[in-house]
This record gives sequence, structure tokens and C-alpha cells, in this order.
Amino acid sequence: MKTITIRRPDDWHLHLRDGAMLEAVLPATSAHFARAIIMPNLVPPVVTTADAKTYRARIMAALPKDHAFTPLMTLYLTESTDADDVAAGFASGEVTAVKLYPAGATTNSQSGVRDIDKVTPVLERMAEIGMPLCVHGEVTDPEIDIFDREAVFIDRVLDPLRRRIPGLRIVMEHVTTRNGVDYVKSADEGLAATITTHHLIINRNAILAGGIRPHYYCLPVAKREEHRLALRAAATSGDARFFLGTDSAPHTDPLKECACGCAGVFCAPNTLSCLAHVFEQERALDKLEAFVSINGPAFYRLPVNEETITLQRRDEPVAYPAKIETGAGPVTVFDPMFPLYWAVADA
Ligand code: NCD
Ligand code: ZN
Repeated sequence: MKTITIRRPDDWHLHLRDGAMLEAVLPATSAHFARAIIMPNLVPPVVTTADAKTYRARIMAALPKDHAFTPLMTLYLTESTDADDVAAGFASGEVTAVKLYPAGATTNSQSGVRDIDKVTPVLERMAEIGMPLCVHGEVTDPEIDIFDREAVFIDRVLDPLRRRIPGLRIVMEHVTTRNGVDYVKSADEGLAATITTHHLIINRNAILAGGIRPHYYCLPVAKREEHRLALRAAATSGDARFFLGTDSAPHTDPLKECACGCAGVFCAPNTLSCLAHVFEQERALDKLEAFVSINGPAFYRLPVNEETITLQRRDEPVAYPAKIETGAGPVTVFDPMFPLYWAVADA
């Protein structure tokens, strides 16, 4: 049997939600991942260091006893965020990064930023202390086609911001376009991007061809095939500026399968199987560890994990549930539309 052993991975963009949903989805990540950047878009959002501390405590309370997992907390940037609170949270280690959601860009982003000038003092302070900013990189202008919103964000918002505050360390979250990949590659330092599992596997046909398939709808929305190929090339290249952020974003089936379904793909349960498959297809299994375990901590200036996990390529397809049950309702697991052969070996 073919196996590969890598340092234990981290997930640099994860939605864990709260309450019954948190309890049900956390083990899918904590079973294999050592750390994750936890998105703050709860209702109400995680805006202060005090909010992050109490949310972190709820995550730790939901953690299975035999799992070792460190949540890395983020604050949801609003136009009234207090720079001193952000800096204090970073200094104490209670907060790892700040998340910028343009208001209206995605799920629970209505308290986000409308006018970037209003948050300049916070961003300047973050640049001073070396604190990373995670960016949802899509404009919200209704005139801009949804498939162009990432590319337009780079020109209208991200590039001007980087010129105005050159010391700000930025992660372009869940990059979905060749434009995003090229922009990140053009920067010398201080800019990186996360790539999701599902954007390496699906293009926009998965959502729309042959019927509307809500479980492939997420934001930023999957783009044309040429963009997926650019993401695969970036992820499997070993380039230190690209690393895994699954953007695993669970919503219950009734909220996805309806006239106005929520954006989000729940890919935590089979992410490592999917990624091993993709990297094997690209003949780049030797680059998997860089993408999932090394490049992320390097950008976040954190140590790499010392523990390891082993992935095995089985002869028969690996079974995983199509849905998980949660106290809030069933949640469908990402279906890559091909059989998976790679599995994490039992420790
Ligand atoms: C995320 C969610 O559901 O919270 N949805 C998504 O489609 N990715 C929000 C986000 O990260 O944009
Ligand atoms: Zn997300």
C-alpha cells in the first residue's frame, strides 16, 4: 500500500459556527488538524478580544477529550473596531488575525466594512505590530458581475490598500481566480493566499450544468475551468505564498436546498482525502506537506507542528458519510464526484 507521512496539517480558514452545529462539526477537523484559523462571522459576530475569548472557550468545551486542537481566533473588523483592543488581543495571543468582510459580500457580513477609510487606523496599527489581516476579496457593487467580483476587488480595493499601508500583512482568503493567483505571485512579501479544497476540484459547471446543485454553491463562487487550473498549479507548486484554508462552511440542508440557499461547502470530513487525490493527479504528492503543514505557519510566523499523520492509498474507495447529523439538522458533506482512495491512517 502506498503511504505518505507529513507533519500534522493546519486549516487557515474554517467556519465552526456555535452551539449544536459547533459540537457536530468540530471533530471532523480536530481529528486530523492541529490548528485552525476560526472565522468570526457568528450572529452576532466576534468583534472584541473578550468575544474571541468566550468563543474560544465554547470551542474547547466542544472538543472531544482525545483530540488535541488549537483554535486560532480572529476578530471581525467593523467600522467601530477599537485598535487598542485588537493590539491587546494580539499581544496576549488570544487573537491571531483580523478578518475584513466587505459589508454584504457573504454569509453574516452585514456588520462588515462599507468604507475602508474608516478602518485605516486599525489597519495601520496592525501593520505596526505585524498582525495579519484576512480578507474576503470580493466587491459588493451590484453592477459588477458575481464572477468578476474577486478580480475587481484586487484593482479597486486590495492593490490601493497595499500601496497605502505597505507593511500590512494580508492573506487573500479563498482565492478563486487566475487573477488572484497572479496578483499574489507578483508581490514580494507580506501577501499570501489560502485555497479551499473544493475550488481545486469543481468549476462553475458543478453548480449549474444539468440542474442547480446548491451544495456546490459557496462564496466566492467557483469560476471557469481555466481558473481552477491556475489554483491547482499554485497549490501544488510548493510556492510558500499559497496554503490550505478549507473554508469548510456548514449550513443545514433546509437552508441550502431552498429558493434562496446559503453559500458554503462543508468539506471538513473528507478534505485530506480530496487533497491527496488532487496532489496525486498533479504528480505533486511531495508538495502536499508544504501546502497543508508548512507554508501556513511560515506566513503566520508560528512553529510548524512536530506530530505527523500518515495517509494511505487504499485499493477500494474510502467510505465517508454523505451527510452528518447535527442538533441543528442534517449537513451534506462535499461530494468531489469521484471515488476517494486516500485515507488518514489510524494513529
Ligand atoms: C461562508 C459562511 O457560510 O460562513 N460561506 C461561504 O460560502 N464560504 C462565508 C465565507 O467565507 O464567505
Ligand atoms: Zn469562509
